[in-house]
Amino acid sequence: MNVQSQASRYSPDFDMPVRGDPITADRYISKEWMDGEMKNLWPKVWHLGCLVAELEEPGDIVRHNFAKESVILVRQEDGGIKAFYNSCPHRGNRLILGESASVPRITCAYHSWTYDLDGTLVKVQDPDDFDGGTPCGRVHLSELRCETWGPFVFWCMDDDVAPLHEWLAPFPERLKGYGIDNWVRVLKVSADCEFNWKIIRDNFNESYHLPTIHPELATFINDGLPDTLFEMYPSGHNSMWMKGHQATTRVDYHTTEVPAPLDEVARAWEIDPADFHGRTGDLREAVIEAKRRLGPGRGFANYDQMSDQQLVDYFHCTLFPNLTLTMSPEQLQVLRTEPHPTDPEKCVFQHWCLYPPVEGMEEVMTPLGMLPLEPDAVARHSVYGDGVSVGYVADQDLSIGTSQQQGLNSRGFKGCILPGQEKRIQRFHELLDDYVKGRE
Ligand code: FES
Ligand SMILES: [Fe+2]
Repeated sequence: MNVQSQASRYSPDFDMPVRGDPITADRYISKEWMDGEMKNLWPKVWHLGCLVAELEEPGDIVRHNFAKESVILVRQEDGGIKAFYNSCPHRGNRLILGESASVPRITCAYHSWTYDLDGTLVKVQDPDDFDGGTPCGRVHLSELRCETWGPFVFWCMDDDVAPLHEWLAPFPERLKGYGIDNWVRVLKVSADCEFNWKIIRDNFNESYHLPTIHPELATFINDGLPDTLFEMYPSGHNSMWMKGHQATTRVDYHTTEVPAPLDEVARAWEIDPADFHGRTGDLREAVIEAKRRLGPGRGFANYDQMSDQQLVDYFHCTLFPNLTLTMSPEQLQVLRTEPHPTDPEKCVFQHWCLYPPVEGMEEVMTPLGMLPLEPDAVARHSVYGDGVSVGYVADQDLSIGTSQQQGLNSRGFKGCILPGQEKRIQRFHELLDDYVKGRE
């Protein structure tokens, strides 16, 4: 296996060695592997639960079903947020059955045990019928850790995992300039899929598939290997900087006329694409200059906090184990797969898109086309393959999921053969091995 690439660009400051462990098919197929992940991986990582903005008032609740587990995030009277397992301490009934709720207290639908927002049992039927007297005030919902970063609320089942900001490092620092705290989630879509959750993780840990799966990105994002910078962090998180506002260097677009849709983007920033005929690669610099000059007047209040790179490029962050954040100055995409409750060959794919609230802007261009710049303008769940889009580009990524899952089931598949640029996949699986086999 060649993972010592000469061609790929790994940041000298952020590179990680790999061992070269084989990546065989069992991890995508077997129930045993799935059980190992349930036991040793998922309890030991932070999970993105919801948005801070979804929990406006005390008693606002968002439920996050994760595999067989269910967690509720509850806005407290004092303004804090707590996370509880969605399970009644009496005899285990699920407490919140909808995706969200807004209640003064949490009441179980089975025997009406009632809990304050802080999880304390406050009312039971026949309180005198318990040994030692009423359980009220003595019984509490089972609580999990809950912390926030930017617009997001996270939960974690394990007390020994690092605090959220430490866990997320270096991203809180690296993404600071984008100013995402008040961004609005316009798109919230998800789909049941017929493949293991790691298939899409692997896909997000490489850009090798771009020319084949997303050929139309070639005139807008430069996926040329020497121009793409990969970073790998000790935490297991990775990232990839891809130059935007520049065509790929895999094909000669650089001595031609400015290709579409770059020409349109140029005009939108008052640049005449004809001036860049024969030197299309220089357009990126011109857009940086134009954004700096015109952006604030157009309501893009965050541009002055961003680096040149952030103003025009794509910063694709793959967080261990299953969260992807793709940043551009005008859009944050959250992409994630979560395991199916029982079937290792299925998963749930989730796609959120957030946008900066720009004064006077009523619509934004999303992966589902133009949508009103409003919270959850489109929110839906579907079954992948039924023709319902989960977003342009994401649809293309998911399109290979089922056929890859099928191919991995072949006796003829002997394990992955990775080029250097896929070292992030290798590292992901080695870390996963360590977790699942308890070698952290
Ligand atoms: S299971 Fe909840 S009140 Fe009985
Ligand atoms: Fe892709």
